[in-house]
Amino acid sequence: MDNSRGITVTPLPQSLGATVSDVDVREGLSPDAVKTLHDAWHRHQVLFFPQLNLTQEEHIAFGSVFGELSAVSPAKDDYRNLKKIGPKGEIFVLDSADKRADVWHSDVSFTKVPPIGSLLSMKVCPDKGGDTIWSNQYAAYDALSPAMRSLVNGLDAEHGRSTTGSSIHPVVLRHTVTGRPALYVSRGFTARIVGFTAIESEGLLALLFRHCEQPEFQTRWKWHAGDAVLWDNRCTMHYAVNDYGDAARQIHRVTIYSPGVVSAATGQQTAAVKAA
Ligand code: SIN
Repeated sequence: MDNSRGITVTPLPQSLGATVSDVDVREGLSPDAVKTLHDAWHRHQVLFFPQLNLTQEEHIAFGSVFGELSAVSPAKDDYRNLKKIGPKGEIFVLDSADKRADVWHSDVSFTKVPPIGSLLSMKVCPDKGGDTIWSNQYAAYDALSPAMRSLVNGLDAEHGRSTTGSSIHPVVLRHTVTGRPALYVSRGFTARIVGFTAIESEGLLALLFRHCEQPEFQTRWKWHAGDAVLWDNRCTMHYAVNDYGDAARQIHRVTIYSPGVVSAATGQQTAAVKAA
């Protein structure tokens, strides 16, 4: 447990994730608090903030602490035509009545420069079911045999579906901050291995998906309205469990890009990284 700078970070007993308490988003975060949060995000990959109860303004400001928020879908990340709210449409409204994210994926990996993170704020959640699961893609890479690691190290894959457009990314992504290699393929968006025949590509992807989706690499969150979760899209995948029938479930999400990516794509000034 780390409670330096007033913030308490408690690692979960699974492969990834930590709960974070005593974060005062209303008062503004000191540079020390921002550093603690960045370090925890990079170390634990997914941070759970029970009962943070973010307003729209706080959601945008808190997400902006970690990078630039997509404002007007510069990277066509709005392939589902989701409702957007906030002064610049920074907040996606994910409603179970529209579409459920019940397939393993890293957010909008079909875009040329995918987001580094996402910050969800739970608004309405079912009493039973509707958990989200994350997987540790560093651990998935590390658990491959040396022979399989050397095969996948040099490969690229195309991400995208017919509705999304597509982009090519390395199968093994080296994290820009931690330097650690992570498997960057998902059943939701990875379509083929570049340079492989269709049979080779299908076979290798089936193996990698099955490997990454093992429970040993996972952590799972039981939501309550008001909870917020921040994750790192470069080294995790996630899956929204679809076990709640017709019950309502609504989440607000801001999608976080490396500083400069959104403004370069749109020519617009977005919310600045807020360190005080
Ligand atoms: C998402 O894929 O961004 C949403 C995850 C969820 O609905 O829990």
